[in-house]
Order: sequence, then C-alpha cells, then structure tokens
Amino acid sequence: FQPQELSGKHFLVTAGPTYEAIDPVRFIGNWSSGKMGYALAEELAARGANVTLVSGPTNLSTIHPNINRVNVISAEQMHQKCIEAFPHTNGAIMCAAVADYRPESYSDVKIKRKSDDLTINLTPNKDIAAELGKMKTGNQVLVGFALETNEEEQNSFKKLKSKNLDFIVLNSLRDKGAGFHHDTNKISIIFKDGEIEHFDLKSKVEVAQDIVNQVVRFL
Ligand code: PMT
Repeated sequence: FQPQELSGKHFLVTAGPTYEAIDPVRFIGNWSSGKMGYALAEELAARGANVTLVSGPTNLSTIHPNINRVNVISAEQMHQKCIEAFPHTNGAIMCAAVADYRPESYSDVKIKRKSDDLTINLTPNKDIAAELGKMKTGNQVLVGFALETNEEEQNSFKKLKSKNLDFIVLNSLRDKGAGFHHDTNKISIIFKDGEIEHFDLKSKVEVAQDIVNQVVRFL
C-alpha cells in the first residue's frame, strides 16, 4: 500500500459563477460552467486530499467520495462558506467567477416593464480571495485565478499581490479554447517573484493536473 501524496490534506476549492438577485425572476451572472473548478476538486481528491468544493450554480456533478460539495448561489453565501472552511484547510484554489458587484437592493416583487430606462445601482461584493489572503497562515497555500482580456500579465500580477496569493493562474479570453465553458484551457502560472510558466492548450483535466503539481511543490 502506497500512501497518496495528498492524503491527510484538506483543500478548499471554489467553482462556478455566482448569481446576484435583482428580483424573484432576474439575476446578474456570468458564463462560468464550473468545469475548471470541478476538475481541480477531482484532481486533488484523486491524489488523496479531502476537498470542500464551494460551488455556485452549475449543471455538473462530483464523482470522488472525498469531495464535500457545498452549493451556494450568491457571492455573499460563497464568502461565508469559504471563511468557515478555510481555517481547517492546507490551502485553497479560488477558481469561481465571483460577481464583483450585486444590486444595492433586492425587489421582493417582479420589477415591471416601463417604457423609460431602468437603472440598477450596484454595490461591491467582498473579495473572497483577498479575505483569505489576510487569514492565511504560513502553512497554507492560496492560489487564485485571473480571467483577463487585456494587459493579462500585469493585471494578474497586481491581483497576485493585492490578494496575497502564493501563485496565480492566468487564463485569457484572447486565447482560443481558453476560459469559460470550453473543455480546454490555456494557462500561465505567475509566481510572487514575477517568474512565469506558460502551458499549452490542454483539457481542463490536464490543466488541473499542472496546477495541482504546483500546489504539491508549494506544500
Ligand atoms: O467555469 P469554467 O467555465 O470552466 O471557466 C473557468 C474560469 C474561466 C471561470 C476560471 O478558469 C477562472 O478564470 N476563474 C476566475 C474568474 C474570475 O472571476 O477572475 P477575476 O480575475 O475576476 O478574479 C481574480 C480572483 O479573485 C479569482 O481567483 C476569483 O475567484 C477571486 N475573486 C474575485 C472576486 C471576488 N469578489 N472574490 C474572489 O474571490
């Protein structure tokens, strides 16, 4: 019997989109399918780790018995579940596409159509990764993602620093087959010292292996 490399370890993974309710019928959301985050959860579990997967709304199911899936809808719910789970883990991979803003107020009744413009005021959500970055102890690894459309490396490096991450996974919507929905992704991993490792376009399952290899190196 060979112990697996991550047995006895526990990780938090966030996945999928968040939905920010406007009224009982409508929400603000994004195109995340959850595929990248679920692939990460499966890869960590396959290597022996216990995984708390905090997931926004997706159509995906989890396979591995070591994955404890916690379903949430909004960024506020995701924030609360992550804050609860993180202190009990060896680290977190923040793959969810969290809404940066939510409607300032929620209408209990369906907003009626009118002929003139409708304005919805938005208020910022908490930055979950940054909050975990403040809570992080020396024994925990914190990995973020950066979904970019321009000035990819500079923007990612700023996020790495401002959220106190150990490394950040950049995926750009300018790369064909990368980002939302696809079964593939093309990533670069950026480290705190500015070093960058570029990877080819691969299946999200293989991308998850590359990312978890880095997590293992960190531990
Ligand atoms: O789900 P798929 O369809 O497979 O697509 C995968 C993906 C494109 C969603 C994924 O690979 C990805 O890039 N996830 C991060 C998307 C994102 O919101 O990136 P960002 O650059 O806006 O956020 C930076 C980091 O902060 C991310 O780790 C994000 O999870 C985190 N964040 C952002 C805002 C917020 N309020 N709280 C956060 O924790």
